[in-house]
Amino acid sequence: PIVYCITPTYWRYVQKAELTRISQTLQLVPNIHWIVVEDAAEKSDLVRNLIEDSRLIVTHLVAQTAPYEKVKDKNPKARRHRGVEQRNAGLRWLRDNLVAGKDKGVVYFMDDDNTYSVKLFDEIAKVKRVGAWPVGLVGGLNAEFPIVDKATGKVTGYKSGWLPNRPFAIDMAGFAISLDLILEKTDANFSYQMAKGMQESEFLSYFTTKEELEPLADQCTKVYVWHTRTETPKINGIIPNLEV
Ligand code: UGA
Ligand code: MN
Repeated sequence: PIVYCITPTYWRYVQKAELTRISQTLQLVPNIHWIVVEDAAEKSDLVRNLIEDSRLIVTHLVAQTAPYEKVKDKNPKARRHRGVEQRNAGLRWLRDNLVAGKDKGVVYFMDDDNTYSVKLFDEIAKVKRVGAWPVGLVGGLNAEFPIVDKATGKVTGYKSGWLPNRPFAIDMAGFAISLDLILEKTDANFSYQMAKGMQESEFLSYFTTKEELEPLADQCTKVYVWHTRTETPKINGIIPNLEV
């Protein structure tokens, strides 16, 4: 199947470094269609050039976060949801351009700052409806993961550092959904109305139940994606005429 990876991205000094890492991971994986959605009024040359260099199959979109929703505060408690309009734009593109039943694939929300093993994509390729797996370095734990009953192979709950009783206590990096389901459930989108930490749960609830989740990565015992967050560099000087 084709894996449609939806990546929201926005300008900051580390953007090119982040997108270089992500694009070069994707270059190692077959059957990728990368959907890059800039949080900007118009497409930037930085992203345009990076996409061209990548030689990947890419759809380049823009969807600007409304100024009042923009993350201003560094305090995590005050932060709004991130990536909402960008992911929705990616979903809209899939629904407008692909045909249910004809186009086959899996949809994965791939933030620009996480670290992805190529092994993850072997797992994503196994997804029939909705697959889930551990995510490293998130929620105050070395990893969060769906708890799998070894006898039945079903998900019974979640090991999560934060609200483990959510319907799906899974980070955005910890699941993928079949394209068929994405094209079928056209009401499923992200929203600022969703409570903090509930975006994944509310979105996944359109498609599946805990009991129906397909646990991957060796019954959710292996970590193939890490919720890394790049430190904001202190830039004290800008060298002119140098593309960094
Ligand atoms: C966590 C989750 O892992 C994200 O999937 C979730 O969107 C986010 O919380 C949230 O608060 O909603 P976190 O590392 O805190 O992740 O978020 P970021 O990585 O900063 O942002 C998620 C994505 O949105 C990234 O791809 C980032 O480039 C993009 N983003 C962020 C924008 O497009 N615009 C922004 O102003 C900020
Ligand atoms: Mn992040």
